[in-house]
Amino acid sequence: MQTLQTTSLRIRDNQLWILDQQALPQKTIWCPTPGVADLVEHIKTLRVRGAPLIGLSASLLLALLAENGMAKAELASSLEILRAARPTAVNLMNNLDRMKLALAQDNYVTALTFEALRLVEEDRALCDKIAAHGAQLIAPGSRLLTHCNTGGLATAGVGTALGVISRGWQDGRVEKVWVDETRPLLQGGRLTAWELGELGVPYRLICDSMAASLMAQKQVDAIWVGADRIAANGDVANKIGTYSLAVLAHFHGIPFYVAAPHTTLDPACPNGAAIPIEQRAETEVTGVAGSFGDVRWAPDDAQVYNPAFDVTPAALIAGWVLDTGVVTAAQVEAGVFQPAR
Ligand code: MRU
Repeated sequence: MQTLQTTSLRIRDNQLWILDQQALPQKTIWCPTPGVADLVEHIKTLRVRGAPLIGLSASLLLALLAENGMAKAELASSLEILRAARPTAVNLMNNLDRMKLALAQDNYVTALTFEALRLVEEDRALCDKIAAHGAQLIAPGSRLLTHCNTGGLATAGVGTALGVISRGWQDGRVEKVWVDETRPLLQGGRLTAWELGELGVPYRLICDSMAASLMAQKQVDAIWVGADRIAANGDVANKIGTYSLAVLAHFHGIPFYVAAPHTTLDPACPNGAAIPIEQRAETEVTGVAGSFGDVRWAPDDAQVYNPAFDVTPAALIAGWVLDTGVVTAAQVEAGVFQPAR
């Protein structure tokens, strides 16, 4: 396969490398990803993370495995193993559905490579379109709040919600960005803060629990988040803590926007209650671990509940900003996300 480089994926010498998002920003480590078990491990440990990136990394690996001689039957079982790596972000399943069609062709090696590279190129273009549509919604002088990481690290392009924010900044409409640290795994404090710093966008990092008082003090003009799955009724699964922000935004009369590519839509999923929510390890809540060290603060026998995502009901969302344009609540109610008949 040709060489390829995105912010967090790399193809060199017919091998996939991923930028370890658990080590950032303290360490920049590119991990080799020779096989399915390696990528599954990277995905489960969130070295590879973000809804679009999970799907793209799985697709690229399958194409490389085919080029390196893996038999069709093994490719088919590998595809299903990768599909099960994380349950909530539907981009993984949507991308792999397309790879499965490529695998069904006689010339499947060429078809898989073509499709994987097309998915990467498409994602770049989708991010640009989302950024262009979303930036139009940002009023001059805006102070925006975002959660988790939705930037170049999580996609092949400029990102989704963070792409909108950085485009808004380039257009001169953004005064500053409030960045939720995003407990428990600190995607905001580690990754979004790093990306905004690299882009030169002024930001202030806050603990998640500080968002409410900022809104009460009228210091937040709009909230922008990404999505891991958008159900047919417009409900959105995203990083845990997103729903609380939406409730707070509603109370304070602040618009709450979701930015995502169409690969995050799941028309077959009727509503948020039907979205599978990943439960994660207790150790993520009882302390922290990473390139900065390993700390435990909870009692040894602490019982933990650790859902990685929550669901924001459609009624709390001011607009779904997709690559195809801004979808309104009225359009969602009219069934724009419902399965095509
Ligand atoms: O657990 P993560 O870090 O993969 O969760 C990521 C998110 O919730 C993002 O907001 C979402 O995937 C959109 S990324 C463009």
